[in-house]
Amino acid sequence: MKKQPLGRGRLDRFISEKCQISRRDVRMLLAQKRVTVDGSYVDDIGLIIDKFSTIVVDDKVLQAQQARYLMLHKPTGVVSATKDEHHKTVLDLIDGENYQGLHLVGRLDLNTSGLVLLTNDSRWSEQLTLPDKKVAKTYWVRLAKPLTVDYVEAFANGMYFHTEDITTRPAMLEIVSEYVARVTLVEGRYHQIKRMFGRFQNQVIELHRESIGKLKLDSSLAPGDYRPLTAQEVVGIFP
Ligand code: URA
Repeated sequence: MKKQPLGRGRLDRFISEKCQISRRDVRMLLAQKRVTVDGSYVDDIGLIIDKFSTIVVDDKVLQAQQARYLMLHKPTGVVSATKDEHHKTVLDLIDGENYQGLHLVGRLDLNTSGLVLLTNDSRWSEQLTLPDKKVAKTYWVRLAKPLTVDYVEAFANGMYFHTEDITTRPAMLEIVSEYVARVTLVEGRYHQIKRMFGRFQNQVIELHRESIGKLKLDSSLAPGDYRPLTAQEVVGIFP
């Protein structure tokens, strides 16, 4: 039997399990035009549905869950986690029922600010974090010591991290001013930016994520604010 990706499966199996009826009976329901998927009558027993397909049999709604996508301006001092004993979490910033079922797409350190994405669509978040997809993340960085052109080459060449036994992928560093750089990464290793500047004994004083893929943090969002993504943003974020 062919395994379906996460959250996907055959319509007939879904109805059969949900209504506790045989696949034969499901076929009958479909033939009698008593089943709608996303508002249209369907008769294809092998139709593949996912967890966001709205499925109705007669007047009974078997499944109706909306995919949700949010961008949030993470302030410093807030943890990228669902629970924390000492600090406010990113999810604490989302009010009431809006919060249900959401997870974070990647993390930022406690003292990093900027763009964070939240969703209940694990297929979307997986696509964003797959190394092959090369979704770039851009950070604005303020440093303790002046930058030199040597940094540009070192970031582009990649750096070997002994603890994980990996060499970082080519990263782009742009010198914005004496103490400010813009860095673009296509991966997210533990404290990656701080560790890369650490090679030059240069401490990161401020770190702010400006964008993920083609999506920029909305400049009208104050720290702690969030808004839903538009349908175009959800699709258009990928390179
Ligand atoms: N690199 C870091 O060091 N910290 C972050 O939060 C993100 C990238």
